[in-house]
Amino acid sequence: MGQFVVAGGRRLAGAFEVSGSKNAALPILAATTLVAAPVTLKGVPLGLSDVQHMLAMLRELGVRVAPASPSRVTVDASGPLSSVLPEQYTRAMRASVFLMGPLLGRLGRVTVSRPGGCNIGPRPIDMHLKGLAALSVRFDDRPGGRIEGGGASLRGAVIYLDFPSVGATENVMMAAVMAAGETVIENAAREPEVVDLAQFLNAMGAEVHGAGTDRVWIRGQLPLHGGCYELIPDRIEAGTVAIAAAVTGGDVTLAHVIPEHLTPLWRKLTDMGVEVRPSAEGMRVSASGDLAAASLRTGPHPGFPTDLQPLMLALMTQAAGCSTLVETVFENRLRHALEMRRMGANVLTDGRMAVIYGPTPLDGAVVEATDLRAGAALIVAGLAARGTTVVLGADNVARGYERWAERLSALGADVILDP
Ligand code: UD1
Repeated sequence: MGQFVVAGGRRLAGAFEVSGSKNAALPILAATTLVAAPVTLKGVPLGLSDVQHMLAMLRELGVRVAPASPSRVTVDASGPLSSVLPEQYTRAMRASVFLMGPLLGRLGRVTVSRPGGCNIGPRPIDMHLKGLAALSVRFDDRPGGRIEGGGASLRGAVIYLDFPSVGATENVMMAAVMAAGETVIENAAREPEVVDLAQFLNAMGAEVHGAGTDRVWIRGQLPLHGGCYELIPDRIEAGTVAIAAAVTGGDVTLAHVIPEHLTPLWRKLTDMGVEVRPSAEGMRVSASGDLAAASLRTGPHPGFPTDLQPLMLALMTQAAGCSTLVETVFENRLRHALEMRRMGANVLTDGRMAVIYGPTPLDGAVVEATDLRAGAALIVAGLAARGTTVVLGADNVARGYERWAERLSALGADVILDP
């Protein structure tokens, strides 16, 4: 499992180079199975365990994978591919469902295991299945929680998503690229990673319009070709470091960041008294005085990103007054609040809502990273705490943060990864 050991009380300062986006890399890697030619991707966070899992899964399916540098990989899906996703991978990583759309598009059939819930909620895939079924895919349940999709060839359709699910939008988009005729996704997710996937598909010869709005339009069955594509920077990693700078009264410049991807965060940090300004190198985030309480509600993009909610909760423990936080995207995403209470945070939770009274001095404790962003938030709380915090479950953090102890330490933190 491993653990992070954080000695609190150090101020973060300096420059931080943001990695390529994990949540763009996973669907785009899956989408390479649509292309029967080599594709080179740049800015891939190859150090992440989720990305390594996706690459392992691609290899297992018959894709040739050749990593060339710490952030560049060439994948070649021109050979024969299997349509069956190995169960050990689908169980280990939820993002394996991203392979459903492209494999249905490329091969006309797919077999996956139904992913289980995870620590932030049940996370069903009903919208993925409904969207793909609208493209004429028939799904049958098989023993052992397997689902088999196939049937007639894919036909374009108009699909309305009941919620702007990121994964369902991406899956349908990838399948629709190979469907006959046109597909329209209404109430589509508008996240920057959805836009990045559309741009990747278009760079390979597809025609996807409207990504970034709630109506995405795809013309199917255009011939795809190989090529080279660079992923967007990881807005959640950037946001995590910005919040870590703020909680330590630090001064950090984020390089390789697209500021518009994080508008809600910059606004909220500014409301709380943190100085945020664009600089020649990127975005500079500095905090010197007291932090003010704030209220925030997560929501699909362009709302406040749910993935930064746990981090904001850590920051709010250090803000003067009563902060409130409402999680609208996931059902069970406040477990980190209970862990932070062990560090002395004054937090009350009720269902999807948390009320945080601050500022409260935090004390180091042994806490558990119940999921990826909860783990990141506990490390950030540890940076602000007196004494030593041990964050158990380091493997959860390694899913989404590359060389994390090393990169935080380069900013002046005292963090080690104890394997
Ligand atoms: C993606 C991100 C994740 C982020 C989330 C919301 C990746 C790899 N992960 O996850 O980091 O927190 O977007 O921004 O990109 N839902 C259903 N049925 C479905 C699909 C989703 O009920 O078929 C529900 C989920 O349980 C959740 C909500 O819809 O409550 C949002 O999920 P979704 O937008 O699909 O998130 P992911 O794509 O799984």
